[in-house]
Amino acid sequence: MIVAIDGPAASGKGTLARRLADHFGLRHLDTGLTYRAVAAALLAQGLPLGDEAVAIEIARNLDLAQMDKSVLSAHEIGEAASRIAVLGGLREELVRLQRSFGDLPPGAVLDGRDIGTVVCPDATVKLFVTASPEARARRRTDEMLSKGQEANYASVLEDLKRRDERDSKRTVAPMKQADDAVLLDTTEMDIETAFQAAVDIISRAKDT
Ligand code: C5P
Repeated sequence: MIVAIDGPAASGKGTLARRLADHFGLRHLDTGLTYRAVAAALLAQGLPLGDEAVAIEIARNLDLAQMDKSVLSAHEIGEAASRIAVLGGLREELVRLQRSFGDLPPGAVLDGRDIGTVVCPDATVKLFVTASPEARARRRTDEMLSKGQEANYASVLEDLKRRDERDSKRTVAPMKQADDAVLLDTTEMDIETAFQAAVDIISRAKDT
């Protein structure tokens, strides 16, 4: 069983994916972390983000178990990840890794931008989780403040819009809702309501 969850930055898809994996007894992969891990390695070595040959080499040696979300969630790593995500050869390498994760029993929840369209086009069920840019910026700002980090709503909103634009306009595997994905707009929902809605959608799809 494969659950594909796509959506823009700060849509809440990561939290949902983790909880859904727990609920249905599946493994979970946040595919954004794979792009972030490659970007972080390039940054750490002071290499240009456009160096695709090196990026592919890093991707080939990536150990999913070693990806540390707390380190990789840094803002500048997210920006760099979105820049290297336009590289077609790098995407092929990471997609291979992501698919092999999904192939292992008992199945998995994968979240990202192109799971339903490219990584797992035959997924059991596909969700496209979104929310208005303003709602997402508000949630991201609150989350950063609650961790004691500095956050400014206006600049968070600006960053999110720029990242949405880059992710949805790129030519290779742009972020988009798959034709057979169910849209879950969480603008007016709290996480609990969104979770229940997602559980209902997946339970229905699983039983058909
Ligand atoms: O989801 P997250 O913010 O961690 O993703 C970081 C960046 O990685 C995204 O902005 C996007 O450019 C890229 N990404 C992607 N395809 C995925 C997951 C993430 O292009 N499946």
